[in-house]
Amino acid sequence: MRPPLNYLRTFLCPARITPRLLAVYCFFFLTAITFLAVRMHLKSYVTAALYGIPALVNAAPSAASTSQPSTPSSSGPASDAHFHEYTIKAENITAKIIPYGARLTSLLVPDRDGDFQDVVVGYDDPKYYLHDSETNRTFFGATVGRYANRIKNGTFSIDGHDYHIPENENGGKDTLHGGFIGYDMRNWTVTAHSDASVTFTLLDQGFENFPGDVISHATFSVSTERSAENPKGLPQLTTKLVSLSLTEKTPIMLANHIYWSLNAFQNENVLKDTTLQLPLSKRFIGGDSILIPTGEILDVDTAFEGALDFTEAKLIGKDIEKTTGLCGGGCTGYDTCWITDRPAAYSASDSVVPSVRLASDKTGISLDVATNQGAIQIYTCNGQNGTIATKESQAKRNKAKDGNSGATHVNKYGCVVIETEDWIDGINNPQWGRDQIFGPDDGPVVNFATYQFGTF
Ligand SMILES: *[C@@H]1O[C@H](CO)[C@@H](O)[C@H](O)[C@H]1NC(C)=O
Ligand SMILES: *[C@@H]1O[C@H](CO)[C@@H](O)[C@H](O)[C@H]1NC(C)=O
Ligand SMILES: *[C@@H]1O[C@H](CO)[C@@H](O)[C@H](O)[C@H]1NC(C)=O
Ligand SMILES: *[C@@H]1O[C@H](CO)[C@@H](O)[C@H](O)[C@H]1NC(C)=O
Ligand SMILES: *[C@@H]1O[C@H](CO)[C@@H](O)[C@H](O)[C@H]1NC(C)=O
Repeated sequence: MRPPLNYLRTFLCPARITPRLLAVYCFFFLTAITFLAVRMHLKSYVTAALYGIPALVNAAPSAASTSQPSTPSSSGPASDAHFHEYTIKAENITAKIIPYGARLTSLLVPDRDGDFQDVVVGYDDPKYYLHDSETNRTFFGATVGRYANRIKNGTFSIDGHDYHIPENENGGKDTLHGGFIGYDMRNWTVTAHSDASVTFTLLDQGFENFPGDVISHATFSVSTERSAENPKGLPQLTTKLVSLSLTEKTPIMLANHIYWSLNAFQNENVLKDTTLQLPLSKRFIGGDSILIPTGEILDVDTAFEGALDFTEAKLIGKDIEKTTGLCGGGCTGYDTCWITDRPAAYSASDSVVPSVRLASDKTGISLDVATNQGAIQIYTCNGQNGTIATKESQAKRNKAKDGNSGATHVNKYGCVVIETEDWIDGINNPQWGRDQIFGPDDGPVVNFATYQFGTF
């Protein structure tokens, strides 16, 4: 009997190389090579999964955003990514934003009892925003562009050249919020994300027939840090919409289109609990029966018996009955562009000033908006008619609080939209002297706003 070690010795250092032994060597050699190859392949696959796939996911929205709107929405990871909720948080403030429309879908801040309330209107299911665009197109929480609000007749002229873009409202009389497929319906690409901030980017290569290319970044961030602008360290949302005109002169005016519900739908509407203050707005832009600016600038203390005077805080419902015709023919409510005049002390015309204060006595939540923009469009949800359900998550929160789940639907006057932007349709009212056309030689176009939440 030879001990097993002797077999190994004979095997490794054979006295003679037989064909059988050669075959055994070949077998081991091939096995080792195969093993190594699989390992290396796997390794590179793992690398791809770690680095490549998230990059692909990020790239997917922009790839899809150039596809036709009629493309049926496919399910699967790429299209899901457009509705992925990016959550950003700081103490006492949590926001969710999705790439589809660079859209704020939820914002939680404490009410006077320290209970969190969602103060923005929208849907719990992010995919529902696609359905909304296809039906009512409310623009809930979206970033709108390339040019917010209405462009008369869908036309404008730059350096003597007339441009015509598709009119998507009032049977062809104007273009609203960028046209049939505005920035609200685009799948923005996520280009940065941290615990407290997220940035979306959109390259607009002549969408909706606007001239030239424009790249825009929309950054949302939250914080409760004490600063000169936020001495109490209140929960604050900051939005930065930064656009660059890349190739041709074009109108640019992006805006947030957030619907606020500071009473968290605990009341059927905002008329009797929510106050609005526009401390710097003594003038507003007059509109016709379809809300196209007439070119007239009106005074808040005379027009509509003072119904637009919000220089002091006033309940939204206080004078609303006097506004018939203000939000369009036969319409009662506010859908108006107030001009923000900076007192001389503020000097720079684009200095950041607090220009809107909204507060609900029901929840005790207040909102102060500061912005570099020259005007504020306020819309009191006159067009809502109780066909859109409120968020179930909100109803649950309300029920847990006092047994009453609150308004089941978004009612007429059930919310308030605040759009910080420039003077609407300034491109068709050159007499106002607004600077709304930007070319490749111009600096970045910045719409900056802070939304600060307090309780009282
Ligand atoms: C955005 O993505 C959704 C889902 O993938 C898709 O249905 C929609 O058409 C896209 N929007 C645009 C403008 O391509
Ligand atoms: C967060 O909110 C609670 C309840 O309103 C409050 O007591 C607390 O001081 C807040 N935290 C900060 C850092 O402001
Ligand atoms: C309105 O737009 C049409 C093109 O649709 C153009 O022919 C017409 O001149 C425009 N009218 C005004 C007043 O700009
Ligand atoms: C409610 O509003 C929607 C969207 O604007 C509209 O299509 C619908 O006809 C309205 N319903 C009623 C009953 O007014
Ligand atoms: C949109 O409007 C229609 C009526 O035109 C209504 O039936 C529907 O519920 C509305 N809301 C949503 C979210 O679809």
